[in-house]
Amino acid sequence: MGLGWGIIGYGWVARDFMIPAIIAAGGRVVAVADPSPEVCKIAHTNGFTCYDTAKELLCNAHLDAVYVATPNNCHAEAVILAAGKGIPILCEKPMAATLKDAEAMYAAVLAKSVIYGTAFDQRHHPAHKKMRELIQQGSIGTPTAIRIVYACWVDPAWSADESQTTNWRADPAKAGGGAVIDLALHGLDLAQMLLDEPLAQLSIKLQRRIHNYPVDDGGMLIGRSVNGILVSQHVAYNYAESLPRRRLEVVGETGMLTALDTMGQTPGGILNQQCGKTGKISVIPFNTTISPFTAQAQAFSEAVRGAPHEFCASRDIILARMFDAAYQEARLCL
Ligand SMILES: NC(=O)c1ccc[n+]([C@@H]2O[C@H](COP(=O)([O-])OP(=O)(O)OC[C@H]3O[C@@H](n4cnc5c(N)ncnc54)[C@H](O)[C@@H]3O)[C@@H](O)[C@H]2O)c1
Repeated sequence: MGLGWGIIGYGWVARDFMIPAIIAAGGRVVAVADPSPEVCKIAHTNGFTCYDTAKELLCNAHLDAVYVATPNNCHAEAVILAAGKGIPILCEKPMAATLKDAEAMYAAVLAKSVIYGTAFDQRHHPAHKKMRELIQQGSIGTPTAIRIVYACWVDPAWSADESQTTNWRADPAKAGGGAVIDLALHGLDLAQMLLDEPLAQLSIKLQRRIHNYPVDDGGMLIGRSVNGILVSQHVAYNYAESLPRRRLEVVGETGMLTALDTMGQTPGGILNQQCGKTGKISVIPFNTTISPFTAQAQAFSEAVRGAPHEFCASRDIILARMFDAAYQEARLCL
């Protein structure tokens, strides 16, 4: 029998990506929790029992795992409650809207030794796994730099869900910031996964250039890994979506890997390797049928069943601390 999941926050990412992924990975949804009556109605129509609160869900349903996909400022309450019950937790990124919340979540999962993973789905994308393999095999020689563009357009009134009247992503209290806290952690985590080493330094520059909302609508990040590999990332909410906006490059001493349109929720994209000597570009095959969400659901299910895994609360909190220090400093200049 597949893993029985509880879903806390039955919004866009849960409905469109994670629940299909759970099912594709052989799991099932036991019940969901969402305080919105409109959303609960949708859940009932879709055949799910819906509780108003995470607490009710956790008290009433027998769950093997929970997936937390509320707005960022509600992650902590759900994670702490689930940890208290000893239930493995996959929680959407960023860990929380504030570092204080993230620290409380970390303490709660540590106290109960539950499996906790921030849902950095992109580390599970088959193209990114292939890139890590190629880097480890020495295909591009000694890696020197990673360059990322991960950007989209988020209008002040944008909402993925018609039942919502406000855009929580543009609300500093609910989101914890703007484009940078929403998008950049994916790339930072991915860089650490591809290089198999942590970042040691990070700095951020923010802008509020196009949109009239109280959070950043774009940012540039520059980091350095413990062994001196440079990482740069441009993330934005002010980026026209027909422009090339999902690009990941890993540069090495003897070559370069480029992934196009792999950063995101869907399967597929393109992976190329370019030879540093001849300039020749080769297309690298990878599994284009499995989404990063499905691969993530599979990996989490196996982890819950006791398989070795890479979900790691201590790695995630270290990244959250480094990110927060750089983000708070950058905000002073916004
Ligand atoms: N990994 C990714 O690619 C990805 C993509 C989109 C969103 N996300 C993350 O997923 C989370 C949700 O984003 P979304 O786009 O689905 O938002 P959304 O607004 O579409 O959905 C959030 C849902 O949570 C519900 N909710 C609010 N407070 C709650 C609470 N206390 N308990 C339970 N439910 C509550 C809302 O009613 C809503 O239905 C965010 O943390 C976001 O950063 C990740």
